[in-house]
Amino acid sequence: MGKVQGIWSICFILMIAVFLGCNYNEQGQISPLGKMEEPLDNKSSKDKIELGRKLFFDKRLSSNNKVSCASCHIPELAFTDGKKKSIGVENRFSMRNAPSLLNSGYLKTTMYDAHIETLELQMLVPLQDHSEMNANLDSVISILKEHPEYKEAAQTIFQRDFDPWVLTRSIAAYERSLISDNSKFDKWKRGEATFSNSEKRGWQLFSKKLNCKICHIPPHFTNYKAEHNGLYDDYEIDKGRFRIFNDSMDIGFFKVPSLRNVALTAPYMHDGSIPTLNNVLDHYVKGGKEHIGKSKYIVPFSMTKQDRIDIIRFLNTLTDTSYLHLR
Ligand code: HEC
Ligand code: HEC
Repeated sequence: MGKVQGIWSICFILMIAVFLGCNYNEQGQISPLGKMEEPLDNKSSKDKIELGRKLFFDKRLSSNNKVSCASCHIPELAFTDGKKKSIGVENRFSMRNAPSLLNSGYLKTTMYDAHIETLELQMLVPLQDHSEMNANLDSVISILKEHPEYKEAAQTIFQRDFDPWVLTRSIAAYERSLISDNSKFDKWKRGEATFSNSEKRGWQLFSKKLNCKICHIPPHFTNYKAEHNGLYDDYEIDKGRFRIFNDSMDIGFFKVPSLRNVALTAPYMHDGSIPTLNNVLDHYVKGGKEHIGKSKYIVPFSMTKQDRIDIIRFLNTLTDTSYLHLR
């Protein structure tokens, strides 16, 4: 009897845990991505997201009124920009390739260096970066606070004047609303879509035979950590996470990008140096370049022509454009 009760209590605890860990997606299904943590000081609401959306597309956030967040994070391209390196005010190049913002609410740390801990803080970087929006926070606020629509929204949603708090909280809330969890892969997992034999083989290769899954862990297809995939034998131009702590063990470490929507986010890697998915596979087949920090999981392997086709077909199943209506 004691044993049976024990089993029931474990089941009950598990059910509660599952319940608490669940998020329901737009389609009313349990999201495979799990629960997204919101900061205590920035609970989302429909109005806040809508204000954040307007600000995200507002070019007055830049010094020359020509660049908005959406200039480099274009919705149709999974919030990337299709360029090797992004272009900011006065056609200046930013340091890196623009990452997708889909599912950015799940990031443990942002940026390729995996160091800024919240979306609220992160947005202050592009806003003030000389090569991105080149703005001065005080002047941006003084311009935006006079805009009747923003003035009113700030009062209604935050009960205060439009200030940096309102700006950072609403843009971050908008970013947290950008969810992509309804790809063909997700539908297949739920039994609502069938995979072709080629897609199935691609998934087997990705998740069993090769080491991809170690860093690009499903269902997020990233481990949210900085890793070293042996892109270069010399990281002179951009040392990655090294620049944060000046620790030589960090040279060549970059945050693992999610592979969700990867078919839309070319060119690839922190510097956009790899143009196609086929070329990305070339990199991994060779086991990357020799560098002291390279992960032990980046090793050469053989791959037939068919294997290549299969993996790429599988990667294409990670595309999900149902987020587009959120623009
Ligand atoms: C000029 C192009 C440009 C503009 C404008 C821009 N970004 Fe970015 N964004 C980038 C690049 C490049 C990176 C990668 C930076 C890095 O890792 O060092 C990035 C990184 C990010 C990240 C981190 C994503 C991750 O996976 O770690 C977020 C979030 C983000 N941007 C949001 C915004 C918001 C919000 C705005 C507007 C306030 C904005 N960006 C404006 C180019 C831009
Ligand atoms: C040791 C961890 C690790 C393993 C294993 C790994 N990757 Fe990566 N992957 C990374 C990192 C780190 C980056 C980003 C590197 C950079 O930006 O310089 C990356 C980038 C990518 C990108 C580019 C994504 C983008 O948006 O730019 C693709 C595609 C990719 N990996 C696919 C794969 C495939 C396929 C495999 C298996 C053959 C694999 N990865 C194995 C760590 C790993």
